[in-house]
Amino acid sequence: MILKNRSLIFAPMDGITDPLYRAVINTVCPEWDFQFTDFLRLPSVSTLKQKNVIDFVGVDFDAKKNPLQILTNKLAAKPDSFKAIDDTEVLWLDLNFGCPANKVCSHHGGASLLDRQDDLKLIVQIAKRNFSKFLSAKIRLGVNDDKNFLENLKILEGEGVDAITIHPRTRAQMYGGRSSWEHIVLATSILKIPVIGNGDVVTVADYKRMLKETNCHSVMIGRGALANPWLAGEINLCREGDREEIRLELKKKQIISFFCELEMYEIDSNKLLIRAKQLTRYLFRNIESEYFITGLLRAKTYKEYSDCIRYWRSA
Ligand SMILES: Cc1cc2nc3c(=O)[nH]c(=O)nc-3n(C[C@H](O)[C@H](O)[C@H](O)COP(=O)(O)O)c2cc1C
Repeated sequence: MILKNRSLIFAPMDGITDPLYRAVINTVCPEWDFQFTDFLRLPSVSTLKQKNVIDFVGVDFDAKKNPLQILTNKLAAKPDSFKAIDDTEVLWLDLNFGCPANKVCSHHGGASLLDRQDDLKLIVQIAKRNFSKFLSAKIRLGVNDDKNFLENLKILEGEGVDAITIHPRTRAQMYGGRSSWEHIVLATSILKIPVIGNGDVVTVADYKRMLKETNCHSVMIGRGALANPWLAGEINLCREGDREEIRLELKKKQIISFFCELEMYEIDSNKLLIRAKQLTRYLFRNIESEYFITGLLRAKTYKEYSDCIRYWRSA
């Protein structure tokens, strides 16, 4: 499975998440588990060639980290176009069923497919038959309302997509108003495949709340990531296990600086050793094992004692 639980995903954003932007983000904030490409439009007159895909994704493309998103409609969804993508190194292909733009929807692509179930089904079937790797879909609630939402989820899962991203707004809402996380809850409660939650995650607290309230598998962030590309790093720092590591790291620094200070005031090494041993149990009680503490208390010289904590600091 390409998608780890709780992955942090930088959303596809047309005109922004191009190769240059992705390269900068990957260097400056490498903590994103995935960074989407913006969408590649499948041609309706000709078919897509392998070279078109390679040119589009760019030289720094990292197949393990960069899912490719495509925009298509029934006419453009040709088996050979999907085969051309399959023949490249792309490991994760995403079908855009959420683009609200008039030009796209008037050609029966993007979000308009959420009201055209036969086309939606056909496109997924063709993609599934001709692209052999991880296939996902990104959807909205519907065109003007959510009347087809459940049916669309069932079609997508039934036709074999491996994951679904939900941006819980209708096409009519564009990017306005509040995104309806309740619909993500609905999706996670009925689908067996991973649901990627998306919409209005801007802070670490939003991220935590989305996971907790919706039970989604992973989280995709768009505008919040544009405003703060370091958000993935901040989220990683706050994850439970890592927080413990940071606390210990900080504690180690504090204890070392405490002993450095002590050494400035007390130059007699015998007295220093006595003082250090006197404080050892207090300082290390909640952060180190009894074995480690006993080791310190057995030190015969202050040099032996301080070597031990300096080694501990760098471990
Ligand atoms: C400038 C811009 C461009 C976007 N382009 C795409 C796109 O190419 N493909 C897509 O699936 N969604 C696109 N979106 C939608 C985002 O991926 C995301 O679903 C939406 O912004 C909601 O998430 P957010 O609240 O975290 O921003 C775009 C959004 C913005 C703001």
